[in-house]
This record gives sequence, structure tokens and C-alpha cells, in this order.
Amino acid sequence: MPIVAPSILASDFSNLRQEVSEVASAPWLHLDVMDGHFVPNVSFGMPVIKALRPHSKAKFDVHLMIEPVDPFLEAFAKAGADHITVHVEGNPHLHRTLQTIHSLGCKAGVAICPATPPEALSQVMDLVDIILVMTVNPGFGGQKFLESQLPKIRTLAGMIRQSGRDIVLGVDGGIDAATTPRVTEAGATMLVAGSSIFGKQDRSAAIAALEQASVASVI
Ligand code: DX5
Ligand code: ZN
Repeated sequence: MPIVAPSILASDFSNLRQEVSEVASAPWLHLDVMDGHFVPNVSFGMPVIKALRPHSKAKFDVHLMIEPVDPFLEAFAKAGADHITVHVEGNPHLHRTLQTIHSLGCKAGVAICPATPPEALSQVMDLVDIILVMTVNPGFGGQKFLESQLPKIRTLAGMIRQSGRDIVLGVDGGIDAATTPRVTEAGATMLVAGSSIFGKQDRSAAIAALEQASVASVI
């Protein structure tokens, strides 16, 4: 069964603590940090992550859409990140960034934008713990899933098998009960979902629906 990681970007920010408690059945919580520079939107940063940390048992899966990223890694680790995912784009020293994330005691993730080929990750397969395939262009929730990313998920799943390492293969953007069977069939093992969870009244049911949709693709 894939890991479901609800993205609080789609939640009611005036009621965050309650929103987070309503997705307690998910093992991970996805936190999208945006700087208005790497992506054309601004979201939230370490103070919000730190404030939420005591109110959730989930692994905090922090997706950094910021540039530069290196000067802020320690602050995000201290704020409570369990996983820190950075983008392959615009970071000539990705290898060092991943080493730094490990030295802070966190799992290291790499996100890859729709226009970037999967080979961009080939030289960090020995260091990466989580690969996050962006199935929309990063910056906003509620966008349409990009079918064009399915072959990339397949290629990366093959690269992971070849590496022999236990790397989580996540997808982020436009993930719902309809797109889940497509991405899990292609090899995704982790689903980030904002609108399809927080857009529903019953969040536990929405999480279960994604888990079931993935199981259906395996049968
Ligand atoms: C987009 C973010 C996503 C976003 C997904 O840049 O990385 O995590 O919250 O939102 P949905 O699930 O609504 O497409
Ligand atoms: Zn994200």
C-alpha cells in the first residue's frame, strides 16, 4: 500500500491545528514551502512547521520550493522536519545539499519538475531517500495532473530497482482517486494529495479512498 501524504497547502489556514488532526490516519504530512522566487507563490515557513510539530505524530515531509535552499536546511530540521525534499533544478551542488540533509538527521528527498528529465537524478541515486515526481508545475494546489509524467515515473522506478536501495517514489500534483491507479501502476509508492483530501468533508475517508484506489491498480 502506498504512503499517503496530505498536503496542508489545500487546508484551511485559519484552522490549521484542527485540519492537521483530521488527517492523523496518514503516516506522513506534506508541507509545501514556497518563496515567491523559485516558484511564483508564497506559502509558509519554519514558524508554521514548528507550531504544528507537537500536534501531529506523522512524519513531517517538507517540500522546499525555495532558492537558495542550503542556508535554510538547518532551520527546517530544527523546526521539526523528518524529511527534507529539495529540487534538482537550480541547484548545482545537489550532492552536497543531500549530504547536509543527512548530517542534520533527516531523510533526503529530491523533487523533479515536469520539464526535467529523469537522468538528472542519476548521480545522486546513492544518496537520495525520496524521489518526488512533480505531476504539475510546482507553486499551486488544485492543478490538473500531467499525463506526460507517467513515463518518467516508470523510468525512475527502474532506476530505483537498479540502485538496489530502498527509495520512496512519490508523486505530487493532481493526485486523486482517478489518477492514483495510473501513478501506482507506473511505480509510485507515495502519494502527495492536497485538494483531493482537504477538499472533502471526511478527510479519513479521502485518505482511505486513495489507498484503495492504489490497491485496485495492483489487483
Ligand atoms: C504544488 C505542491 C503540492 C500541492 C498539491 O507545488 O508541491 O504539494 O499541494 O496540490 P494538489 O494535490 O491540490 O494538486
Ligand atoms: Zn509538494
